[in-house]
Amino acid sequence: MPDLFDKRLLFVTGKGGVGKSTISIALGMAAAERGLRTIVCEVSSQENASRVFKKGEVGFNEVQVADNLWAISIDPDESLREYLLLQLKVRAMRDLLMRSRLFNYLAAATPGLKEMVTIGKIWELALPDRKVKKGREYDLVVVDAPATGHGVGFLQTPRTFAGIARVGPIHNQAQALDRFITEHDTTGVVIVSLPEEMPVNESASLERQLTDDVGVAVERIYMNAMYPERFSEEEARRLERVMEIAEGPANAAVRAALSEHRRANAQRGQLDRLAASVKAPIKTLPFIFKPRLSVDELHRLAGALT
Ligand SMILES: Nc1ncnc2c1ncn2[C@@H]1O[C@H](COP(=O)(O)OP(=O)(O)OP(=O)(O)O)[C@@H](O)[C@H]1O
Ligand SMILES: [Mg+2]
Repeated sequence: MPDLFDKRLLFVTGKGGVGKSTISIALGMAAAERGLRTIVCEVSSQENASRVFKKGEVGFNEVQVADNLWAISIDPDESLREYLLLQLKVRAMRDLLMRSRLFNYLAAATPGLKEMVTIGKIWELALPDRKVKKGREYDLVVVDAPATGHGVGFLQTPRTFAGIARVGPIHNQAQALDRFITEHDTTGVVIVSLPEEMPVNESASLERQLTDDVGVAVERIYMNAMYPERFSEEEARRLERVMEIAEGPANAAVRAALSEHRRANAQRGQLDRLAASVKAPIKTLPFIFKPRLSVDELHRLAGALT
């Protein structure tokens, strides 16, 4: 398996609710433990990192949450402001735009502009030589990308933009961003999936789209939340015989054990199906039997990631 942490930028993508935010943070923790200065970027302002690390609202700031680990929640409006600030050298024009309603009109009138400046900010964070004043240099930027549906579109934004603005500085900047995202040495994409029918189908088609249409490097697929295999088939058969004679609580316990066994089996079937339909290496992650995942559980996941 290729080493994910050789990259400078990792996008974590997948269907809604499969564990993108969880795995983004766990990846960040794993990289930070290896000594890489790492930042995890949330783009849909869910504030997952602030909840896990109990840091108050992270917001559009680079907040340190652990040794070697930072988090930021990228707000498109703030990114657009920052972009204009860096771009517009003429102060009077900058002020006019920022202070007036023109700013809101600009954002509303340009479809995809918010995604574009969000990716621009991600790129800025990954630069060895940051554009913002006193910008910290990171070894790795992990992006908790929007759920698919939006996911492929999100990564395609720079190319779409470059196509709309055919010439000029916006065109050139959009093209530079597209080159950065599709540069396989520096940028990788990780797909998160679940061992169920629909997520497996969607992960396979997502990999195809990302590889063929967007041109990014899909480095790995995480099959998240796999149940443990606790019993062999022989043991399961024995349990079935026990269930026939057991009564009361014993019967209920055996029934529960068998039901979990069948579920784990069905998940292995989905894992085989995924393996048959994708090219990227697959890594399984355990289901963690906790109502809410806190730092300790995320550490456990982080250990299983690489
Ligand atoms: N391996 C796991 N074991 C147990 N629970 C998990 C695991 N991975 C994720 N979860 C839980 O599943 C839920 C969804 O996870 P998460 O928020 O990371 O998904 P997401 O893909 O970011 O969702 P969204 O698309 O809404 O942003 C959360 O409650 C999380 O704690
Ligand atoms: Mg999320």
